[in-house]
Amino acid sequence: MVRRISIIAFVVGVLFMLTLFYMSTLENSGLAMKKIVPFIYLDIIDTDRAGSRIEELLRMLPQINTHGVDCTRIFARDDEEIKKAQNVTTVRTIPDRNFLTLARNCTSYRRRGYMTKPVSDEEERYPIAYILQIYKDLVQIERLLMAIYRPQNWYCINVDLSTGEDVHLGMIAIASCFDNIVINSVDVAWAKMSQVEADLVSIRVINLYS
Ligand SMILES: *[C@@H]1O[C@H](CO)[C@@H](O)[C@H](O)[C@H]1NC(C)=O
Ligand SMILES: *[C@@H]1O[C@H](CO)[C@@H](O)[C@H](O)[C@H]1NC(C)=O
Repeated sequence: MVRRISIIAFVVGVLFMLTLFYMSTLENSGLAMKKIVPFIYLDIIDTDRAGSRIEELLRMLPQINTHGVDCTRIFARDDEEIKKAQNVTTVRTIPDRNFLTLARNCTSYRRRGYMTKPVSDEEERYPIAYILQIYKDLVQIERLLMAIYRPQNWYCINVDLSTGEDVHLGMIAIASCFDNIVINSVDVAWAKMSQVEADLVSIRVINLYS
């Protein structure tokens, strides 16, 4: 009896190890992962309905120059197109001090990729107030802002008092191009009470302006 149980335990153990080994080979093999990932997605979302909705949303998003890469095909998980995109992907960095000049002409600055219309009636009827606390790297902050910016929302950005002049001036220049972006400048220490204070000041500022 004891012997039979230990044999069963051994077989189960071996099967478990084999499963782990199989899973680890899947993780290492890009090909197998590609086969699995669409399967998971197909399971979770109703692709027929989501497909047309995604295309509709894509048409409304500001278009960014993607060097001849077809984003719709990427969303359709076309391996060739994904390879092409990976080939041309570069990380663009812009020095903080350049934003003062970039945002000097608001007409051209707003065309860098900010949404100028609400995405849907539903969103328009439900404006959101965002509070951001920033410290460095305007190009990254700009990318975030471009993704969440909608004309019906409010944005209060706390530029840390102790950050450099370039970030301060650049952020002021960007904010001055939009009626719904306001900035304040509380000295924030990470994970300290001042972080909450900065948010409270932002809430007050948004209350004043909106
Ligand atoms: C990747 O870029 C290189 C150099 O520009 C080019 O020769 C090659 O054909 C590209 N590969 C793909 C898949 O687009
Ligand atoms: C600002 O940019 C727009 C669009 O590029 C251009 O038409 C306009 O002349 C510029 N204004 C100034 C003052 O340079």
